[in-house]
Amino acid sequence: MEYELSDFGKRFAGKIGIAELMDDLGSALSADPAPLMLGGGNPAHVPEIQEIVRQRMVRILDQPGEFERLIGNYDTPQGSAPFLDALTNLFNREYGWGISPENIALTNGSQNAFLSLFNLFAGRFEGSPKKQIMLPLTPEYIGYNEVGMESDFFQSRKPHIEHLDNSFFKYRIDFDTLSIGKEVGALCLSRPTNPTGNVVTDEEVERLRTLTRSAGVPLILDNAYGAPFPNIIQAEITPVWDENIVLCLSLSKFGLPTLRTGIVIARKEIIRLVSRMTSVFSLAPGSLGPALALELVQKRRYYAGKP
Ligand SMILES: Cc1ncc(COP(=O)(O)O)c(C=O)c1O
Repeated sequence: MEYELSDFGKRFAGKIGIAELMDDLGSALSADPAPLMLGGGNPAHVPEIQEIVRQRMVRILDQPGEFERLIGNYDTPQGSAPFLDALTNLFNREYGWGISPENIALTNGSQNAFLSLFNLFAGRFEGSPKKQIMLPLTPEYIGYNEVGMESDFFQSRKPHIEHLDNSFFKYRIDFDTLSIGKEVGALCLSRPTNPTGNVVTDEEVERLRTLTRSAGVPLILDNAYGAPFPNIIQAEITPVWDENIVLCLSLSKFGLPTLRTGIVIARKEIIRLVSRMTSVFSLAPGSLGPALALELVQKRRYYAGKP
């Protein structure tokens, strides 16, 4: 006998792109020899990073009581306080954003942050029509697709394709087709993007900032591969944040994907909501990722070229 599934349950019973991708990637890695992953999924194992993280783990183990505290106490739903302080200092020193720890929340991976954020800004609204998340440039990260808890959750725009020399081309946002109607609750884009590696330019981001600000909706920037860490990015770009931007970062592509640490930087009201959602979904974010990355962030040892 099969149990009858709720509408919510049925959402997860059908085809889910990100589930298939994660299954495929996991199975491929169990092959011997494992293939070299040049596409999505697990980041490269960089021996130098792994050694630094290992040394930090050894120091935690050697310090009396530190390991026990780390594995034995939940953090608050907002996440590890020393890590929030270290991130605040980092972004203020590096970019002068003037944020405080109340502007940052940790999540169990940035995938979880998108679940919270997208459903905060799109879906049903009491007394007014449904709203959608707009993806202003496709192709876009497959993992967003099933995150909406309502049907018909997204609208997206095709790129303007600029043809360059030697058969190269660049995806650009087609601003001619981009108007933010009342049915849009937020815009989201990954920068650099998965799967194409395209990096939306500073000028395009500036135009999006102006458009979202005048439409009164947040601009969600997915910085899973961007600066200052993991900095898997060839283009010269300026990381930006203001009260209308929700910036999402992750420790995954830095080399700690299994520790599930996402970072959201946003205005304080949004951070409070994201933290409360974390408390409902999973009580608290994991503590190990923040503990292992703490000294790297404090000492700003997160990418080549920085002391
Ligand atoms: C563009 C992008 N955003 C977000 C994520 C989610 O990463 P995590 O949940 O490990 O932080 C990924 C993972 O591949 C990604 O490619």
